Amino acid sequence: GEYRRPVVSGNWKLNPMTSGEAKETLKLLAANQRALEESGKDIPEVILFPPYPFIPLASELLEGTTVAIGGQDCSLHDKGAFTGEVSVSQLASLGCNHLLVGHSERRTLFDETDVEVNKKVHLGLNAGLRVMICIGETEDEFNVNLADAVNEIQVKKALAGVTAAQMEDITIAYEPVWAIGTGKVCDAPTAQEVHSAVRRVLDELYPNTGVAGRTRILYGGSVTPESIDVIMREPDVDGVLVGGASLMADKFSRIIDFS
Ligand code: G3P
Repeated sequence: GEYRRPVVSGNWKLNPMTSGEAKETLKLLAANQRALEESGKDIPEVILFPPYPFIPLASELLEGTTVAIGGQDCSLHDKGAFTGEVSVSQLASLGCNHLLVGHSERRTLFDETDVEVNKKVHLGLNAGLRVMICIGETEDEFNVNLADAVNEIQVKKALAGVTAAQMEDITIAYEPVWAIGTGKVCDAPTAQEVHSAVRRVLDELYPNTGVAGRTRILYGGSVTPESIDVIMREPDVDGVLVGGASLMADKFSRIIDFS
């Protein structure tokens, strides 16, 4: 198979509550990361998705490390009378290189549709951001064997109009909804099956381009320092998207330092 550089990403969601707490975690993370980078080990690409107001703090404190910063979402609008919104241009101008779209919390708690997810994918790409698209089935869908069908639809709808060349800037994050924040990690062979099914969908969408072999497909859902090694051993799992454990610098750094 093709070499795909592993990615460890952290999604802070609506945490922590204060910039003071964010600062403490970021300082520790930066110190850990510097040590890891100086160790000469092979380390994964690292991306952090902090809440919007902490993005400047994260850029400042992680400067000099290879940790990249991204937005957790974006507005469908680029400027104007849209109170409370944050645009891709604003994110890019703050030094973000990445954008997360379609997280299941956005889809379920904020009624985000596949059409909106697709619009955000294009907004991100056009603003020069690398876009991480979250997909994943619910527990009910999983139980009646609909995981592959649901993920196929989400991938195809999210990628509508995305060219093979643009796929260089796309990462897929498979996050089974039932594994998010529940402590129930998807077992590694199941994740492997879903990931390889997603890769087949990419091959169907972009035949004879090498896209399917090059696209990183990450796993997300209750990843911890204890579960990282086993999940990363699966051939189609190219990294992780970490929620809760990314809020603790030492845990997140141990995940980054997986073997
Ligand atoms: O985006 C990451 C996420 O949804 C997983 O959260 O807390 O289960 O690691 P958690």
